[in-house]
Amino acid sequence: MRFSYISFIFVSTVSVAVSAQQSQLGKTAVKDVVRSMSIEEKARLLVGTGMPGWVGLTKLPDPPKMKVPGSAGKNQAFPKYHIPELILADGPAGLRIRPERDGSTQKYYATAFPVATALASSWNPELVKEIGYAIGNETKEYGVDLLLAPGMNIQRNPLNGRNFEYFSEDPLISGTMASAYVNGVQSNGVGATLKHFAANNQESNRFGVNEHISQRALREIYLKGFEIAVKNAQPWAIMTSYNKINGVYASENKDLLTGILRDEWKFNGLVMTDWFGGYGSEDEVRANKVSDVAAQINAGNDWLMPGTPQQIEEVIRQAKSGKLTQSAMDESAGRILKIIVQSPVFGNYRYSDHPDLKAHAQIARQAATESMVLLENKNNSLPVKLNGKKIALFGNTSYNFISGGTGSGDVNEAYVISLMEGLKNKGSEIDRRLSVKYLPYIRREDSLQIERRKREGGLSKYIRIREMDFSDQEIVKASEENDFAIFTIGRNAGESGDRPVSDFYLQDDEKSMIEKISRAFHGKNKKFIIIMNIGGVIETQSWKDLADAVLLSWQPGQEAGDAVAEILSGKVNPSGKLAQTFPRDYKDVPSAGSFPGTPADFPLNSVYNEGIYVGYRYYDTFHVPVAYPFGYGLSYSSFAFSGLETKDDPAAKMLRVSFTVTNTGKVQGKEVAQVYISAPKGSLDHPLQELKSFVKTENLQPGKSQSFSMSIPYYDLSSFNSVTSSWEMAPGNYEVRLGNSSQNIVLKKSLRISVSEVILKTGNLMKPDVKFQEIKN
Ligand code: BGC
Repeated sequence: MRFSYISFIFVSTVSVAVSAQQSQLGKTAVKDVVRSMSIEEKARLLVGTGMPGWVGLTKLPDPPKMKVPGSAGKNQAFPKYHIPELILADGPAGLRIRPERDGSTQKYYATAFPVATALASSWNPELVKEIGYAIGNETKEYGVDLLLAPGMNIQRNPLNGRNFEYFSEDPLISGTMASAYVNGVQSNGVGATLKHFAANNQESNRFGVNEHISQRALREIYLKGFEIAVKNAQPWAIMTSYNKINGVYASENKDLLTGILRDEWKFNGLVMTDWFGGYGSEDEVRANKVSDVAAQINAGNDWLMPGTPQQIEEVIRQAKSGKLTQSAMDESAGRILKIIVQSPVFGNYRYSDHPDLKAHAQIARQAATESMVLLENKNNSLPVKLNGKKIALFGNTSYNFISGGTGSGDVNEAYVISLMEGLKNKGSEIDRRLSVKYLPYIRREDSLQIERRKREGGLSKYIRIREMDFSDQEIVKASEENDFAIFTIGRNAGESGDRPVSDFYLQDDEKSMIEKISRAFHGKNKKFIIIMNIGGVIETQSWKDLADAVLLSWQPGQEAGDAVAEILSGKVNPSGKLAQTFPRDYKDVPSAGSFPGTPADFPLNSVYNEGIYVGYRYYDTFHVPVAYPFGYGLSYSSFAFSGLETKDDPAAKMLRVSFTVTNTGKVQGKEVAQVYISAPKGSLDHPLQELKSFVKTENLQPGKSQSFSMSIPYYDLSSFNSVTSSWEMAPGNYEVRLGNSSQNIVLKKSLRISVSEVILKTGNLMKPDVKFQEIKN
């Protein structure tokens, strides 16, 4: 029987019902419910009940029956106050719940959508909103109230093991995509959670690393995306990150949670910790230690998740000692109750356990195609006819496509369409000599991997399966018998570990196969296509010229193979653009010298001495050549930009920009217009340019145009001055730069803006705890 809160109330005893009548959630004001609760009760509300099926970090062999198996956390219910259990579940690429349930033959699968990095490459917030809506629908229909997504940390360094869960190296893209995602999820009447607030840019010692970041880099880069999403989407919740920022744990950081988030940005949802956040390490959880609950709740971190019995006792002790203030406790309790009142469980929503997975699969496929980025297409090698063609399909992941990353960003989907299946579905014939070798090899290696990861439990890492080796003769034979060749490069990573530098480069087994295939097929004048099935940036410079076409499919969700085939065949014209730079070499990355901090094997400190020069802000300003610039991506068509007009509107404090995009090619397609701004030299240094607006066209027919007008507020043009704690705009000439990548600026126009310098004064918050130098332009 499904949990029904109302029926539970009716079976309560008369005495409970009488006292409950005076203060019941939904009938009485939230503050009165809070006032009725004892300290012990409030402590049990502020601390979650632990991960369902676990005690601390130990999995129970025989867990009690759960409402939604595989969910990540919940609160304690208080029937007498009419407070039900809110169910929380991950995650960013789709709802993460367990598909099997005891005593049921039904499978509770969720749709695996493209990972966030892929979605951001669509540069299409409308599409991301649609994905959010579908994920929110599955959340609601499986009985979950609050989704622990989206993840939106800045991709500071390509080796962060969780980059696939995040959108971009740029805060405008991150904030815009997160807003769209949250708006989509929440229009179902379930909540979304922005995470991980803030600066969770590495997994190495994620529980304890102290990140030293200037106030300017925080405001402009690491907090900016969250600010955009809070203001544009009013998420129900925010999850704090594990790490310290300038000496203070994010979950204990009053400057961050109260000063900036609530007072300055007017956030009115609830703040929860990451799972065991503030503990310093998993060992402390295992040793039954306790986080500094008073510091956390006093700072404005309302909910301690997933919660331990020690934390409940500690909250009571600290409340009685006065270190944890009564008002902080009451405010946090009130915020939690306000969210509970909005939730499906409070409204006794009768969820179906049957979301429309078929319809969502269609959305996942469409999103996957729109997220793929065509990096190379020499002599218009693509699109290719697939129907009736014989394909030499190489690379392990061609047969075992990676839909998404590991850890809490993983999804338990019903199936993943491999590239082999996708090509066959389009009428291609796959070389059997190759597939009969690959398939048993992959099956064996994959089951070893699954067994190992089960044995290691928790957040065990994915280990790349070594590429099968084929002799020169075998490959030459394949080049004689097939129309063209495809090789897929696969990479996977996830929570709790960063990628080693070696993962950034191709390994010898991969290089050798790519070289042999390239030689053999080009020797026969036949095409060679490389697909990149990856979740984070890798090196491409040394091998990209060995292929005729390179398609970055990212980790595209469960419809993978069909989506790749639609791009290869030209059924869909690629329109994805990179939301992060592909550097030529790891040493070119601005944070290469400081990531993941010191000491390198277990970093206690990480100094962000690249300051605001993250991603293209660095490469473009310091003229460091890259493999593929930010914003880059090819199309089967071509586009022209024209009629760039700019106007200053001082009364509205806006810069107005308008222009037209025309499809000048032969096939219909979409283009992304990117508006970068170069600010004048003032008292602060600036990157060469920064993305300040973007728009994606509709699917334009050849010869058709679309015109756009956009308004950029002065606030978005201003820079943060750490000395004066204010957003300032230098008066002078602003150059508006329109193009389709940060390094393909097609039209430019300068205009003079004469503003008073200070746009907004803020608090002097999150001051650095140590002195360090930042690079300057
Ligand atoms: C992750 C969060 C996730 C939580 C609950 C943590 O380990 O960092 O992103 O939401 O677990 O599964």
